[in-house]
Amino acid sequence: MDFFELAKARYSCKKFSEKAVEEDKLTKVLEGGRLAPTAKNSQPQHIYVLRSEESLKIVDTLTPCRYGAPVVLAVAHNKQSVFEYPGGVYNSGAEDAAIVATHLVLAAKEVGLDTCWLNFFDPDKAKAELGLPDNEMVTILLDLGYPDATAKPLPNHESRKPLSETVTYR
Ligand SMILES: Cc1cc2nc3c(=O)[nH]c(=O)nc-3n(C[C@H](O)[C@H](O)[C@H](O)COP(=O)(O)O)c2cc1C
Repeated sequence: MDFFELAKARYSCKKFSEKAVEEDKLTKVLEGGRLAPTAKNSQPQHIYVLRSEESLKIVDTLTPCRYGAPVVLAVAHNKQSVFEYPGGVYNSGAEDAAIVATHLVLAAKEVGLDTCWLNFFDPDKAKAELGLPDNEMVTILLDLGYPDATAKPLPNHESRKPLSETVTYR
């Protein structure tokens, strides 16, 4: 698929099949994330592949949005190796995690898997329940798997604002 086909084909899957994700496909998805750029190339990401019964049970206590996915990728980042914006207020942690997650999502589609990006969870609770070290925080959960035979995009998948509403030329 070329980039625009891939970008259009990706949608938020809300019903996954129980079919297991093959190791080689999972590795390709993770490799897609590995190639992502990060601020100053600091690569603060730490991806937890949650797929054991125990881990998925924990996910289900954090969010109602697993939708039957057999794998959930928790995209965390090391708070100590992020880029601090001048001004000292903001840092790149969440944006580094977001671009890694975007690569994961698109790589998944490329190998025939679907995803759903989740932020409907409490990051502090997720950190505690998943046993993350103090220096990490998790801002993104990604459901990953094969779509159920009945899965399809929600109608809003086709609804994007025109460029005239979201772009300003100056
Ligand atoms: C940052 C972000 C957070 C999201 N959080 C959730 C979520 O917690 N639960 C959920 O079901 N979908 C979630 N979604 C999916 C969006 O609702 C979905 O991307 C949007 O409605 C557009 O649909 P599409 O992805 O099928 O094109 C999230 C998407 C993004 C980008």
